[in-house]
Amino acid sequence: MDRKFVMEKVLVVFASRMGSTGEIAAEIGKQLTRRGFEVDVYPAREAPDAPGYGAVIVGSGVYLRRWHPDAVRYLKAQAPDLAERSTFLFQSGPCGPTSETSTSTPHTVATLCCHIGANPPTTFGGNLDPAKANSLLARLITHSDLAGDFRDWTQIHTYADTIADQLHTNPAMTGRTLTAV
Ligand SMILES: Cc1cc2nc3c(=O)[nH]c(=O)nc-3n(C[C@H](O)[C@H](O)[C@H](O)COP(=O)(O)O)c2cc1C
Repeated sequence: MDRKFVMEKVLVVFASRMGSTGEIAAEIGKQLTRRGFEVDVYPAREAPDAPGYGAVIVGSGVYLRRWHPDAVRYLKAQAPDLAERSTFLFQSGPCGPTSETSTSTPHTVATLCCHIGANPPTTFGGNLDPAKANSLLARLITHSDLAGDFRDWTQIHTYADTIADQLHTNPAMTGRTLTAV
């Protein structure tokens, strides 16, 4: 009898102060759905535990060189379970004329990547929209020459496609999350 494998669900977790990282997470979720995966997308504060998902993607906006605390908390709390499944990270931040320059990975996140065995986060351009600025500092920054939407949706789709390719072509990556039918 032929044995084929069915991928269990993929969880996309995000933390966002002004909404644009959430939009990236939603787009990653849509692209993975197009690629045949069952996907849940949750803000980190409400996200379910990693067990039960074949792969987990965690992303955060970068603020003053740090990830949103909700995303860091999620990574810390779920680290043992994330280490047992395919985990991918992304961060959204760089804006303005030098947005091509990669934002570095915060030290805490780099340390957690080592614990989990995940690659460092992929960096996407950020979005600074004065209409969404929700703090004094954000209002100052969004009224500077850094303002604008620097998210590259082609890059974001390619990121999701690369994850889909890896999960499809290397079932071993998903360990115990594969179900034989
Ligand atoms: C107060 C503040 C601090 C920021 N600090 C950084 C930073 O250290 N590095 C970076 O690359 N981007 C930084 N950014 C840009 C944000 O990461 C970018 O706007 C991102 O898209 C925000 O995501 P969000 O809409 O999900 O909150 C900062 C933005 C604000 C408002």
